[in-house]
Amino acid sequence: MSKKRVAILISGRGSNMMSLVEAARSADYPAEIALVLSNRPDAAGLAWAKAQGINVAAVDHKIYAGREEFERSMQKVLEINRIELVCLAGFMRVLTPWFVGQWPERMLNIHPALLPSYRGLHTHERALADGVKIHGCTVHFVVPEMDAGPIVDQAAVPVRDDDTPDTLAARVLVEEHRIYPRALAMVAGDRFVLKGNRVLARA
Ligand code: GRF
Repeated sequence: MSKKRVAILISGRGSNMMSLVEAARSADYPAEIALVLSNRPDAAGLAWAKAQGINVAAVDHKIYAGREEFERSMQKVLEINRIELVCLAGFMRVLTPWFVGQWPERMLNIHPALLPSYRGLHTHERALADGVKIHGCTVHFVVPEMDAGPIVDQAAVPVRDDDTPDTLAARVLVEEHRIYPRALAMVAGDRFVLKGNRVLARA
């Protein structure tokens, strides 16, 4: 089995990145984490990955004149590392259609809500304010529109009466760590077909 070379893009603590790294340690996992890239050189997740002996890179968005220059630099790093799939994991930069267009059906994102509900930020606060009883998380292919794109996997999390945004976020995060490795395995293992907006399992 040839493992797909995956880059994980992060901006912060990188707990989802860690769950993908752990999953990829299995001999039969169809992906290897070939690179962890951060737009913030001081991201805690980057230091963790480096300490694990994982190949890391920082492309600091602040030193570039604009979004495209920043993204072209990231793209170079991805190409030099012969990356085949990209996983966004708490990567806090909006991506241009140009960059997204380099990775059709080859870039995944994890979002802390049941899409298409609660795109954008502060999902847990908004879900509580709306009084929903079921919340959750989504792994989806990245398309130019933010937090849209075909859904690869989702997990539901019941909302409790005593939930705060923090307690709800913590339970959603547990599910994020469960479904992201599963979704990446499906995509890296070519075990899906895309029918319109639907990602269907292939035997
Ligand atoms: C996660 O909740 C993820 O869904 C969202 O940003 C957060 C990142 O957390 N996109 P971490 O850096 O993976 O711990």
